[in-house]
Amino acid sequence: MDSTNGSQTLEAQAEAFFDSAPPLQNTHQITQKLDQFIQHKSSPSTNGDARRIVCVTSGGTTAPLEQRCVRYVDNFSSGHRGATSTEYFLKAGYAVIFLYRRGSFQPFCRSLPDDPLVECFEPTDELNIQVREAYSEAVKRAIVDHHAAVTGGHLLKLPFNTIFEYLQMLQLIATSMRCLGPCAMFYLAAAVSDFYVPWKDMVEHKIQSGSHFLDVQLVQVPKMLSMLRKDWAPLAFCVSFKLETDSNILLNKAATALEKYKMHAVVANELTTRKEHVVVVTSADNIIVRRDKSLSGNDVENPLIKLLSERHAAYIKDSSRQV
Ligand code: PMT
Repeated sequence: MDSTNGSQTLEAQAEAFFDSAPPLQNTHQITQKLDQFIQHKSSPSTNGDARRIVCVTSGGTTAPLEQRCVRYVDNFSSGHRGATSTEYFLKAGYAVIFLYRRGSFQPFCRSLPDDPLVECFEPTDELNIQVREAYSEAVKRAIVDHHAAVTGGHLLKLPFNTIFEYLQMLQLIATSMRCLGPCAMFYLAAAVSDFYVPWKDMVEHKIQSGSHFLDVQLVQVPKMLSMLRKDWAPLAFCVSFKLETDSNILLNKAATALEKYKMHAVVANELTTRKEHVVVVTSADNIIVRRDKSLSGNDVENPLIKLLSERHAAYIKDSSRQV
């Protein structure tokens, strides 16, 4: 069957996508890292509670137009939401698998200056350098917190660029996390390509300029949310995001996604106000979550992660009653 065929089942569409994707580099190392991380984290804590692990996706995926890629279609996301949420999940006691777009915002780096790295340091003599006084506190804090999270085994960071890498890695992560049952959470803040050029239809070399039009056919990316819920990690608590620029359609679109993809919650956000407030849409209620402006440096992710981790705890409790 043709990969553009709209009458294919989702499973067939997903299979066609993965079969035609360029194979993921370092699959073996990624699987090993995941298994070690999950094994280390999944033993019960000292108080007997099972540990919770969340996969946070962050940043936008690219859809390449050439196999030896020079040009690509990108998706908007700075990675701020994912990076900030990761810090609050860590504070809430979660271990975090951070699946992020290379070059996007990183956890613990938000307070760092925008200046390029080389401008944050100065030489003390020919061989040694030091952090410039003005940046010293922020740089020290970021390095200490990041180091503690990674070496403590609480944070595993996995980078992607393309839609092919992202979906293959999400599948690997989800199938590795399946053993955690309801203690696993997916927090899908990445902006994922809706359209792509299948690898087999893609030209190898750089597309030449010169003709007035560029004619490229993009095919719809199968929505893998359903695969995640049905096959990859069916017991995990799943939170997806809905981004719109028209606030009039936002809540309806979020409610439709909740129902269609059987999500446990959908975080609805509007482009211009996304750092001020979001609405958490669930089958029981719609909750407006706002950034507390009275507290300096507070983020909307602070109350958002509190709410979601409470909902996740209730879900774990409910699941254990049903066993
Ligand atoms: O990174 P920032 O600059 O801080 O911005 C944060 C954000 C606005 C990017 C983030 O809060 C957000 O809303 N992320 C999701 C944006 C998005 O792609 O929405 P969507 O309507 O296209 O997709 C909805 C959901 O379906 C997403 O959870 C996505 O992971 C999933 N999806 C999308 C396409 C696809 N082919 N497969 C998918 O599974």
